[in-house]
Order: sequence, then structure tokens, then C-alpha cells
Amino acid sequence: MQPREEPTGSGGRKVIFDTDPGVDDAAALLFLNANPSVSLLGITTVFGNGDIDTVTRNALYLKKRFGIQAPVARGAAASLNGDAGDPPVHIHGQNGLGDIPVDWEGLPDLDPRPAHRFIIDTVLANPGEITLLAVGRMTNLALALREAPEIVSLVKEVVIMGGAFALSGLNGNATPVAEANILGDPLAADEIFGAGWLVTAIGLDVTRQVVMGPRELARLATHGGEAGRFIVETSTGYRAFHAQFGIDGYYVHDSTAVAYVIDPTLFEVRSGPVRVATEGVAIGQTIQRDWNTLHPPGEWDMAPDQQVAVSVDARRVLNMLVGVHIPSLKAS
Ligand code: BDR
Ligand code: CA
Repeated sequence: MQPREEPTGSGGRKVIFDTDPGVDDAAALLFLNANPSVSLLGITTVFGNGDIDTVTRNALYLKKRFGIQAPVARGAAASLNGDAGDPPVHIHGQNGLGDIPVDWEGLPDLDPRPAHRFIIDTVLANPGEITLLAVGRMTNLALALREAPEIVSLVKEVVIMGGAFALSGLNGNATPVAEANILGDPLAADEIFGAGWLVTAIGLDVTRQVVMGPRELARLATHGGEAGRFIVETSTGYRAFHAQFGIDGYYVHDSTAVAYVIDPTLFEVRSGPVRVATEGVAIGQTIQRDWNTLHPPGEWDMAPDQQVAVSVDARRVLNMLVGVHIPSLKAS
């Protein structure tokens, strides 16, 4: 195994953050990194909100600017089927960081391993301890699973931001039924849900209830230090995108998954097998089997139970996230 840098933080939760920064990914990384209960062991990148060069450069930039100790490993440039799609520059900007001016000089080196190998090595070195927190396409996790299926029993848990389960009538954001991270690599997502580890999906059903509004953003800008100002600065275009839909602020997708890792009691989850449509008009749709309904025997019977978040205490999630940068406001 390659030598690696010391992890960030000394907390008990050992986390690998798999991400496509991305405006909301960048904020999620800063919230995660600042939380004292977390030891961030690595940042792995995946195509999505930008191409793989863009999101990897952004991860390295965040590492440098905010003194994050965890290594960065570059991941998949395309889905398991070889599709990369067009980055959503209308949401995250051409540079993936809301098009704020960025000094790209002097970026740190990458970990020499591809992301999926980094994941495997780190899980093997920390059996039973690692939380895989994936807030982009699930391609790196699927590649790790395919190369080293034994990690299934060695990972503590997998938490993803992904999916749309139509729990409150709302559904997909990339198609009428599909959420973007799942649609970007539906096959990878189906393999992740189908493996015998514990997956918790923090999907649009709950992330659309957590809105970072003007009040939280003003607090971050005024009292949140450099990280708080950066989160506000990068989110200008992201807010404008949400404003088109009448939202004053923005949906806290990736950071809500961070909040679950730190305090799962802020959520209610439902258990049952989850499958992903991998072709056809509903490609990318996530469906959880309801054990209370009887069906004839079929493929679903073989799928393991996984967890889907069905409700969230949005106010406490926001207080936790904002409070990590502004401790004096934590309890408000
Ligand atoms: C997800 O898609 C991306 O745009 C966000 O970063 C988030 O991970 C929401 O559907
Ligand atoms: Ca993301």
C-alpha cells in the first residue's frame, strides 16, 4: 500500500468522501472537514458536476485553500457504461465552483492511486471502521466492489446523496423520475444498492426539505470565517438557479448526507430492498420495495434491505451545518 498523509481531524468517525465538486459538494466538504467528530481519511473524485479534470482540480484547490490534510485520489471519468454526459455548467458554473475567480497555482499532488483502489486499500487497513460517503455518481464505489468484493463486509456503512423515492409527491430532478447522481450511472447505483453492505440513501425526498436560506447564508458570511464566506461566494449562481423555481436559497443536497453521517437521529429511515432502473424511459428511477405489500416471487426477493431517508429535522440539520463554522450559533 502507498504511504498516505495523516487524516484530517481526530474524531471517531472515519470517512472517505467521494465527490464531484461542485458548489454543494464543496460546501459539504467544508462542513465535514470542520466537524470534530470526523476523521476524513480521503477525498475521492468522480465525474459529474464537472468533468473529472475539473472536479479533481477543485478538490485539490479546496485541500490547499482550507488546509485539509486528507489525500485526494482521482476517480472515474465516465460511468460503468462509458457515458460521461455534459457537465451541468448552468448550475455549478464552468469551473464547477460557481465561476468565482480561483488561483490554481501550487496545487498539492494527487494520491498516486485511482480512487477505487484508494477506497479498497483504506477499507482493508481499517476493517469495520470506514463510512463511505458518496455524493456524486457511484462509479468509484462500484469499481471498488467489482475489484475487491470482500470490502462489502469490511465497510462500516455506505451513505449516499442520491435517489428520489416520490415520498411526498416530488420526484426526480434530472428527469421526471431520476435524481442526477443516480441517472449519471444507474448501473453503478444498482450494484451499490444490491451489495450486502448497509446503504442509506439521502435522496431528494429529504434534501429538498433542507433549504439554506438568506438567514443562514448571512450568518455564514458574517461569522463563518473564510470557509463561510467561500460557501456564500460560490453559491451565487446556485441560488439564482434555485430562484427560477421560487426557492429563496438553495437545496442542501450533499451537506444533508454529511449531517446524516454525523447525527443519524435527525432522520427517519425506512428499510427495504432498493433497485434502480438501468434502461428505458424510467432509467435512473430508484424504487424501494414495500415489505407490507405481497408480490409473487421474483428478482426483488434477492435484494438486501437498504435504508431510505423518509423524513428529516431540517432546522436541526441547518443549525448543525452552520454551527460547525459558527460555534456560538450552534444552539440557536
Ligand atoms: C446532486 O446532483 C449534484 O448536482 C449535486 O452535487 C448533488 O450531489 C443532487 O441531485
Ligand atoms: Ca454532488
